Amino acid sequence: MTIESLATGAYLVAALLFIMSLAGLSKHETGKQGIWYGIVGMAIALIATIALALDGGDHGGMTTIGIALMVVAVILGASIGLWRAKVVEMTGMPELIALLHSFVGLAAVLVAWNGYLMVEAVGDAQTEIAPDLLGIHHGEVIVGLFIGAVTFTGSIVAYLKLSARINSKPMMLPGKNALNIGALVVLLGLTVWFVITPELWILIAATIVALLLGWHLVASIGGGDMPVVVSMLNSYSGWAAAASGFLLNNNLLIITGALVGSSGAYLSYIMCEAMNRSFISVIAGGFGMEAPSSGGDADQGEHREVSAEDVAEMLAGASSVVITPGYGMAVAQAQYPVAEITRILREKGVNVRFGIHPVAGRLPGHMNVLLAEAKVPYDIVLEMDEINDDLSDTDVVLVIGANDTVNPAAEDDPTSPIAGMPVIRVWEAGNVIVFKRSMAVGYAGVQNPLFFKDNTSMLFGDAKERVEDILKAL
Ligand code: TAP
Repeated sequence: MTIESLATGAYLVAALLFIMSLAGLSKHETGKQGIWYGIVGMAIALIATIALALDGGDHGGMTTIGIALMVVAVILGASIGLWRAKVVEMTGMPELIALLHSFVGLAAVLVAWNGYLMVEAVGDAQTEIAPDLLGIHHGEVIVGLFIGAVTFTGSIVAYLKLSARINSKPMMLPGKNALNIGALVVLLGLTVWFVITPELWILIAATIVALLLGWHLVASIGGGDMPVVVSMLNSYSGWAAAASGFLLNNNLLIITGALVGSSGAYLSYIMCEAMNRSFISVIAGGFGMEAPSSGGDADQGEHREVSAEDVAEMLAGASSVVITPGYGMAVAQAQYPVAEITRILREKGVNVRFGIHPVAGRLPGHMNVLLAEAKVPYDIVLEMDEINDDLSDTDVVLVIGANDTVNPAAEDDPTSPIAGMPVIRVWEAGNVIVFKRSMAVGYAGVQNPLFFKDNTSMLFGDAKERVEDILKAL
C-alpha cells in the first residue's frame, strides 16, 4: 500500500471525525466528546499531511530545508496555540477567535499568490497543470484570494471592535452600499480578465480591492450585530480554507472548509432570525440599514439604588425569581456565587430560573458555558422565548451584567440601533434589580430606559462582589 492511499484513508477517517465533532458540539451533554473527536481528527489529518509531504509521491519528497522549516513551523505554531489557549480569559475568547479567523484568511491569500507564482516561475509550458485547465487554475487563484482577503481584513476589524480597540458603532461612509457593490463589480471584472490574461498587476489590484472590501463590510456593521458578523467570518474562513484546498489539491481541506463554511453560514442565519435581522443585509455590510438616529441620549429621569441587604430580603420573600445574565457576569466571573444563591433559594422553595438571550455575552452560548461551569442545572436554564411569557408572573428579576439584551428601546424606539432585536422583557416582572458598576451604556452604545423604570433598582459595583454580599445577607 502506498503512502498516498494510506493518507487518503486517514483523510476519510478525519473527515468523519470532524462531522461527529460538529454533531457532538450541538448539545451540552456531548460537547466535550465533540471536542475530542475534533482533536483526534486533526491529529490524524496532520500526521497524514506530513507523511504525504515527506513522501512526495511521484514528485519526490521534500528537501531537508523544507522538512526543517515544516518542523519549526509546527513546533512554533503548536506552542503559541497552546500558550494562548491556556492564558486566554473566557471574556477574551471572541477577539481571539476573530484573530484566528484572520490567520485563515491570510493563509488563503498566501496560498492563492503561491498558486499564481508557481506557474509563473516555470512558465505555462513547463507547469504540471494541463494547458486547458490553466484557466480554471487561475480562476481558483483569484476566488481563493478574494475570499481570503475579505476574511483577513474583516476579521481584523472584528478583532479591533470586540477588544474595544476601536469604536463598535457602525462606520457610515456616504454611499456605502454603492461602494460595496462597486467593489464587487470591479472584482468580478478583474476575475474574468485574470482568467483570460493572468497578469501580475491584476492580482495586485484584486488583492487591494478585496482587502478594502473586507475592512469596509465589517466596519459598517454596528456593535449589536457583531454576533452575526463573528459567525459570518467563521463561515468565510471555512470557504477560504476550502478554496485553498482546491489550489493545494487537498481533499480534506476542501471537506473541512466546506463543513466550517456551511455550519458557520447556518449559525449566522439562526442568529439573524433570533435578532430579527435580514441575513442578506448583514452579510452585505448592513445593506439597506439606515444610520441609527438615536442613541437614547434623551433625559430618562432619575434612577433608584438599592443595597445588597434589601435585595437579599426581597429574594427571601419571593416565590419566583428569574436571573438574566449578560457580559458583565462573565467579566466579574460572578457565575459561582450566582450558582450558590440559586442553590440556597431553591432549597427554600423559591422557583429560580435563568433567562438566556441568544446573544448575551460575546460568544454564542457564552452564558450557558459559564453557568454549566458553575454547575447550574440545565433544566432551569431557559432560552429567551421560553422565559418571556412567564416574566409578568415573576416576583424578582436579577439582571446580572446584562444591558443591550434587556433594553426596552429595542421594542419602543424605531430609531434605536438595536430596534427590532428581540429582548428579554424583564420590566414586566414585579421588581427588577440591575447589577452593574455605573450607568454606562452596553456594547451597542445605547442608553437603557429599563434603568429608569419605577420597578427597577440599581445595585452598583462589581457583580461578583455584590452577589457575594447578598449571599452573606441570605
Ligand atoms: P452588554 O450590552 O455588553 O452590557 C454588559 C454590561 O455589563 C455593561 O453595561 C457593563 O456596565 C456591565 N459590566 C461590565 N463589567 C461588569 C462587572 N465586573 N460587574 C458588573 N457589571 C459589569 O451585555 P449583554 O446584555 O450581554 O449584551 C451583549 C452585547 O454584545 C449585545 O449588544 C450583543 O449583540 C453583543 N455581542 C454579542 C456577541 C455574542 S455572539 N453573544 C458577540 C459580539 C457582540 P458597567 O460598565 O456600568 O459595569
